Amino acid sequence: MEDFKITPIRNGTVIDHITAGQALNVLKILNVNENTINSTISVAMHVRSQKGYMWKDIIKIEDRELDPKTLDQIALLAPNATIAIIRDFYVAEKYKVKLYDRVFGLARCSNPDCITNKGEPVETEFIVTSRDPPALRCAYCDRMLTNISDNLI
Ligand SMILES: Nc1ncnc2c1ncn2[C@@H]1O[C@H](COP(=O)(O)OP(=O)(O)OP(=O)(O)O)[C@@H](O)[C@H]1O
Ligand SMILES: [Mg+2]
Ligand SMILES: [Zn+2]
Repeated sequence: MEDFKITPIRNGTVIDHITAGQALNVLKILNVNENTINSTISVAMHVRSQKGYMWKDIIKIEDRELDPKTLDQIALLAPNATIAIIRDFYVAEKYKVKLYDRVFGLARCSNPDCITNKGEPVETEFIVTSRDPPALRCAYCDRMLTNISDNLI
């Protein structure tokens, strides 16, 4: 364990190696506000990463594990994030989020004329055209998604 900026947690999830500057957008995905929160969340922004002489953000969530859709959305903002499941203070599991070549049903297209915005039963689909930072192109209308964070669904 390299960073002691945040108190250790007994059980929960650590999202580490978040692209610097994305922590608040990741919190939006976690849907935390005073009404929904039921355990402590700690956020560290602009932490020096030991590995790459780079900066990163970190989020630690007590007593919660993340569902697959949440993890896939995090990958769209922070493709290098690692997820550590903490049990009884130790890292019980650790894996990287995964950004696939195509993304289904995670974001809406920003083109109002796109077929996916016409009330048809069509799931959104994007092609990942760049990975770090991720860039998404709509598979239906070819529009690039300019603000991924604001268009997650
Ligand atoms: N009990 C704990 N409470 C809070 N955070 C923890 C706890 N144990 C580990 N962590 C954090 O979980 C993440 C993964 O832990 P690990 O020990 O694998 O770190 P690491 O060796 O630095 O891994 P990496 O190579 O991914 O940086 C780190 O951010 C670490 O600080
Ligand atoms: Mg580390
Ligand atoms: Zn579209």
